[in-house]
Amino acid sequence: MIPYVHRRTLEVVARTAAVLEAGELLAHRVAARQAGIACEPKAARFLGVQARQEAFHARVFASAARLLAPKVTAANPAERALAALASRLDSDLDAGELWSSVVGLQVALEALGQAVLDELEGVVARHVPALAPLHGLLARQEAAHRAFGTRCAARAIECGELTPARLRGATRDYDALVGELLMACAEVLDGFGVPYERYAERFEAALPRWFRVAASA
Ligand SMILES: [Fe+2]
Ligand SMILES: [Fe+2]
Repeated sequence: MIPYVHRRTLEVVARTAAVLEAGELLAHRVAARQAGIACEPKAARFLGVQARQEAFHARVFASAARLLAPKVTAANPAERALAALASRLDSDLDAGELWSSVVGLQVALEALGQAVLDELEGVVARHVPALAPLHGLLARQEAAHRAFGTRCAARAIECGELTPARLRGATRDYDALVGELLMACAEVLDGFGVPYERYAERFEAALPRWFRVAASA
């Protein structure tokens, strides 16, 4: 029989992987839809590549769960929070609001992704060093998505394609939705010995200044 502590650790790994896989699948679906409505060919190309990378990330987390926690089936504790975020992103995309959806995915959700990946870096290096290069690759790709989205959104704000009213609505909604997502993951992330507040601080720090200003306006 698996000792209690060991089984608990496996459950934490499996549940974390389940959340991350679902988050990556959402990012994949949204980036693919963004690529379909982007007018600039360069942006459409980047978003198409991003969509493929997010699908790859989802496969990585699914494989990691099979490798590290075989025979443990875990429910995704953030299913409801992810569904609410997906619904807001879809309403932006249905309305053709590319830049508002970029604020949601590449700026807000990717800021949380970076916070989680940064915290997990030490855990991976300590417990599964063989996966460190893969962690590094994912972290670099996510950083590129975030940098691209932040740059494009800032340009859209500057030239008025993203109006102050839409920016305010998007930053408020996505700040709240991504915050709820983090809350939903708090218990499972706590299993790695890192308190929820550390992720929240990293998330806040990863947001561009204009996001925080608009969200609190
Ligand atoms: Fe990703
Ligand atoms: Fe990403």
